[in-house]
Amino acid sequence: MSHFMPDLSSPTPRQKPLEVARDTYVIRALTPSVGGSWTNLNAMVIRGAEPIAVDAGMGTHRDSWFEDLFSLVDPEELRWIFLTHLDCDHSGNLVETLERCPNARVISSRGESFRVNASMGVPFERMRLLDDGEVFEIAGRKLQSLRPPVYDSPYTRGLFDHATRVYYASDAFCAPIPGDPVDWVEEIAPDLWAEGMARFHYSSLCPWVALADRALFRAEVERLGALGMEAIVSGHSPAIRGASVGQALELLARLPDAVPAPLDFAELTG
Ligand SMILES: [Fe+2]
Ligand SMILES: [Fe+2]
Repeated sequence: MSHFMPDLSSPTPRQKPLEVARDTYVIRALTPSVGGSWTNLNAMVIRGAEPIAVDAGMGTHRDSWFEDLFSLVDPEELRWIFLTHLDCDHSGNLVETLERCPNARVISSRGESFRVNASMGVPFERMRLLDDGEVFEIAGRKLQSLRPPVYDSPYTRGLFDHATRVYYASDAFCAPIPGDPVDWVEEIAPDLWAEGMARFHYSSLCPWVALADRALFRAEVERLGALGMEAIVSGHSPAIRGASVGQALELLARLPDAVPAPLDFAELTG
């Protein structure tokens, strides 16, 4: 059997929302990946005075997206959808969520807002613009837009919640799950986590990082580390907490010198 093609004969496991901090839940989906591994397709919900969805999942998982979203927030109560960037694995249910949640507005970077309008037909009246470093306050709770150190669109923004110190990193910190699905990266063997993180960043997110000035790139990662994050939520990784936060930052800082061997597609596709 090919190592590359996932085994589609068995059903994809279902991961229910994971509480990563007070009022903060990761909405998860899984897709089969190389060599029998899994890739997370995550989004997040922050409940509270004005509930926020962070990203809107992938269209291929629309049923579970709405099931999980509405298990956490009533459709009329959702007020905001913070869109990290327009890639389809982050915006796949955006239009449908706006249709089903009449009081929700999109929070987007200024640059991305034009594409959200042009390609998805979202009117500017249903958007609020928030850019890198800017803070958005809900009932005294500070949420800050912060671009992650690595990204596949320059419009990408992450979101830092000063109340819980959870950072939603969009695509950054992506890593596959090399076996049975897990909730947290600490459940993955450290060498497999490091290898998978390097491979994912180089194959799917930021091969340009090999060209980066080492000191400048490390300084950018340390700027993020200075926030004092309690947890990191990546769109494509199990959640990261506790000691794993520092380890994840160090793996990211070393990324320019962690160029993986190229995948042997001839062998993988057999
Ligand atoms: Fe992306
Ligand atoms: Fe993504």
